[in-house]
Amino acid sequence: MDLQDGEAEVIRAEVDGVLQRHGLERENLIPILQDVQSRLGYLPKEAMQQISEALKIPEVDVYSVGTFYNQFRLNPPGKHQIKVCMGTACHMMGGHIILESFERRLEIKEGETTPDREFSLERVACVGCCALAPVVVVDEKVEAKVSPIRVDGILLAFEIESKKSGEIEKPVEEEGRMQ
Ligand code: FES
Repeated sequence: MDLQDGEAEVIRAEVDGVLQRHGLERENLIPILQDVQSRLGYLPKEAMQQISEALKIPEVDVYSVGTFYNQFRLNPPGKHQIKVCMGTACHMMGGHIILESFERRLEIKEGETTPDREFSLERVACVGCCALAPVVVVDEKVEAKVSPIRVDGILLAFEIESKKSGEIEKPVEEEGRMQ
């Protein structure tokens, strides 16, 4: 995933701070990764490279730890986070079809983030409202009995919303350029 403007500097500074706090012992690798993730929201590959150099652990080993534990995410969280429940009830009610619909519409796989960082998609375990299966949690809001058509509706609503806010912001930008 491409970094945004200024992001490389932020990553470097945050990782420096975390390394200073934890020290450079190899056994601190997991707490270091946890701390970096809590600060950045994910584990960028640039952070893992920096940690690998500092702790003198091969980069591939740092990466393996990052991918082995479910708690770590390797992609930045999207502005909108879509969590498709894949607990037993939701799975039985077609949760996998809903996940595939999101994957197809967003052109990403679960665990990934769209290149513009608008959406991230993940599968989650039972979210505790099985009677509403299949369930999707979109930015903390529970969507019940979701169908593939509803998937289109959810994404369309965001599209309309972002167009509307673009239109509201435009006059301000233009006003700024005139000064
Ligand atoms: S299995 Fe999806 S809410 Fe319980």
